[in-house]
Amino acid sequence: SFEQSLRPRLLKTYIGQNQVKNNLEIFIEAARNRQETLDHVLLYGPPGLGKTTLAAVIANEMGVNLRTTAGPAIERPGDLAAILSALEPGDVLFIDEIHRLPRAIEEVLYPAMEDFCLDIVIGTGPSARSVRLDLPPFTLVGATTRAGAISAPLRDRFGVLCRLEYYEERDLVTIVRRTADIFDTAIDDQGALEIARRSRGTPRIANRLLKRVRDYAQVRAQGAITYPIAQQSLELLQVDRLGLDHIDHKLLMAIIERFKGGPVGLDTIAASIGEESTSIEDVYEPYLLQIGFLQRTPRGRIVTENVYRHFKLEVPK
Ligand code: ADE
Repeated sequence: SFEQSLRPRLLKTYIGQNQVKNNLEIFIEAARNRQETLDHVLLYGPPGLGKTTLAAVIANEMGVNLRTTAGPAIERPGDLAAILSALEPGDVLFIDEIHRLPRAIEEVLYPAMEDFCLDIVIGTGPSARSVRLDLPPFTLVGATTRAGAISAPLRDRFGVLCRLEYYEERDLVTIVRRTADIFDTAIDDQGALEIARRSRGTPRIANRLLKRVRDYAQVRAQGAITYPIAQQSLELLQVDRLGLDHIDHKLLMAIIERFKGGPVGLDTIAASIGEESTSIEDVYEPYLLQIGFLQRTPRGRIVTENVYRHFKLEVPK
């Protein structure tokens, strides 16, 4: 699909995440030279930073198939056993949201990761016995928005741990330009910079905003994306100068107006604005922490003075 073609297929064309890339490049080359499978890789960090893309790049660089599933999609041990026994030697199995794997299924994964085998229990009660099935060697690539949410025994079975960081502005500019090029849309430096600035360090957001700005440029102008066009359309989308959207505003203003700036617990904030605690914690909060708008304290979240200044409110004493 078109969406797929936006994704880089090689480490060399994957922009940003230099630390992760430089490490993976070495581990991939070493494994290839030894004709071994790559060790299991855990990718963690906020959503939209390219974990799925990176899993596909790893498979492509290793010259193997990518099989994709997600923690919540695997309900019974048999589901995982079916996926594992269908792998070909060397394949990459990508499990997204791996922190949402049920505990009983994690336990199927341990011997699979460690010894490439499945322990299957046949029968019940006193006549139950365990059969060991060999699996082809494979690489598990797990992805999670929260490294803290996966159990220690699972985490310990990954040989490569990669933390994805928010992208730097200039990397986002490069990504926006690359995507605009694929779309055959003209964009100038200031236009690309404005979209990058409002993308919260996140390529997925940058590409989404670019699509909407491109629509605006096509309908309200002559199709080319310039600074004023980017600025006007992003205003219309209610994405502010720092990339904060309607929900970020609602979250921050609720803490200020209803809880005197905090501290206030996550669940209390969530109930007060009608959003899920997990989506606040995994999606909204990480960026607000990163830009110094929120702080976590043992008694809950507090907004910083920066928030009052951003909203042009009087800073409380
Ligand atoms: N598109 C989305 N993320 C990208 C990245 N990290 N590098 C290149 N293109 C991308």
